[in-house]
Amino acid sequence: MVGKIMVSLVSLILVVGVVLGVAIALHKGSKDDAEQSTKVQMKANIEEFCKPAEFQIPCFKSLDSVAKNDSATMKDYLLASLKVTGDEIKKSLEVVEKNPIDNKTDPYNHMAVEDCKELLQYAVEELQDSYSMVGDTELHSLGDRVSELLNWLGAVYSYQSMCLDSIDKPEYKQDLENGMRSATQLTHNAINIVAKISTVLQAFNVSSTITTSSNNHRRLLGYPTWFPVADPRKPLDNQFNTITADGKEIASKPGGVVFQNCRIVPEMELFPVRFQLASYLGRPWKPYATTVFMESELGDFIRPEGWMIWQGASFEQTCHYYEFANRGPGAIINNRNKSFRNFRLLNPIEAAKYTVDRFINGNDWLRYTGAPYYLGLGGR
Ligand SMILES: *[C@@H]1O[C@H](CO)[C@@H](O)[C@H](O)[C@H]1NC(C)=O
Ligand SMILES: *[C@@H]1O[C@H](CO)[C@@H](O)[C@H](O)[C@H]1NC(C)=O
Ligand SMILES: *[C@@H]1O[C@H](CO)[C@@H](O)[C@H](O)[C@H]1NC(C)=O
Ligand SMILES: *[C@@H]1O[C@H](CO)[C@@H](O)[C@H](O)[C@H]1NC(C)=O
Repeated sequence: MVGKIMVSLVSLILVVGVVLGVAIALHKGSKDDAEQSTKVQMKANIEEFCKPAEFQIPCFKSLDSVAKNDSATMKDYLLASLKVTGDEIKKSLEVVEKNPIDNKTDPYNHMAVEDCKELLQYAVEELQDSYSMVGDTELHSLGDRVSELLNWLGAVYSYQSMCLDSIDKPEYKQDLENGMRSATQLTHNAINIVAKISTVLQAFNVSSTITTSSNNHRRLLGYPTWFPVADPRKPLDNQFNTITADGKEIASKPGGVVFQNCRIVPEMELFPVRFQLASYLGRPWKPYATTVFMESELGDFIRPEGWMIWQGASFEQTCHYYEFANRGPGAIINNRNKSFRNFRLLNPIEAAKYTVDRFINGNDWLRYTGAPYYLGLGGR
């Protein structure tokens, strides 16, 4: 039995491509210690821990001190990486504060910088929360909190990129980008690392052993901060309209934009002029833009090619645009633009991943908001 489990564990680890030093002791016996039945001790070393990271050298440098400790666990590594990331974001906040822009000569960028400070402050707070959460969580129950953690880290990343995107003065933007590089790279790394930790923990069924006990003290976190990010910019040119422009930059960062049971139709007063500008369901603002329209009515003003490319980039090759069970003249997909490599109609099993229940864990928090909702497919 133990041998069999070990074999399947080994193959699972190979499948996810992450090799962690693992010592597992199974205590079989008394029925009352179901929760204790699997004790998992995961030691990590720096090569293994940094393997999923996009920016290897910053990952190694930032974990220098914890790497010196031979008995450091995966949790120690994770805490250290969150701590360093937070420190770097504080440094980028200092860079922003050191470069004020005169409100008289450049009110637009003055305002952008003020917003930027606020965003970075949020990022610092969110990272501090993440740090405390990981600190308070036993490693064996971390698997249960990973999606929360990914949401927070995703928000930390978004705050930094919103800050940079809001500034339009090129030389200032460049300075800021340089000043923030270390912070954004470390945040990017943290997201990829946590996403892999989740895979490993799930492979070990670590999360499922504790789900019942940890649910009791699950904190209500409120709205995930990335929720939902429909086109935040006024239209940049007036050749066309897009309903969405998702800005997901990291494949393993959670989030995206989902429309379910919506009516995508023109306002009454715009109805006569609805064909004057071409209208599209979305345009990929960043490489992993993720957008789903499902169980919705799409009006005749949506162009048959459906989706618009982002000029000057090739994000149509990497973005994730899907449709499922839409109706109305705009929902005919025969002439959707074939350049969107991943585009397709989902089947119901795939579509279920984008429902309120699965995509935003709505069952855990929406009831506290008083907002009406349904969790799955086929609601009204
Ligand atoms: C090394 O890691 C272990 C395991 O987390 C910890 O108990 C110990 O205090 C650490 N040693 C140092 C010097 O930080
Ligand atoms: C910047 O100047 C504008 C007027 O040009 C004023 O309305 C605004 O309050 C000023 N903002 C700050 C932060 O001083
Ligand atoms: C994890 O749980 C599933 C379903 O409960 C089971 O089929 C699988 O064998 C378990 N994996 C391990 C590694 O114990
Ligand atoms: C489809 O996308 C390509 C870019 O890959 C673009 O050149 C082409 O104009 C698009 N076709 C339509 C009909 O929009």
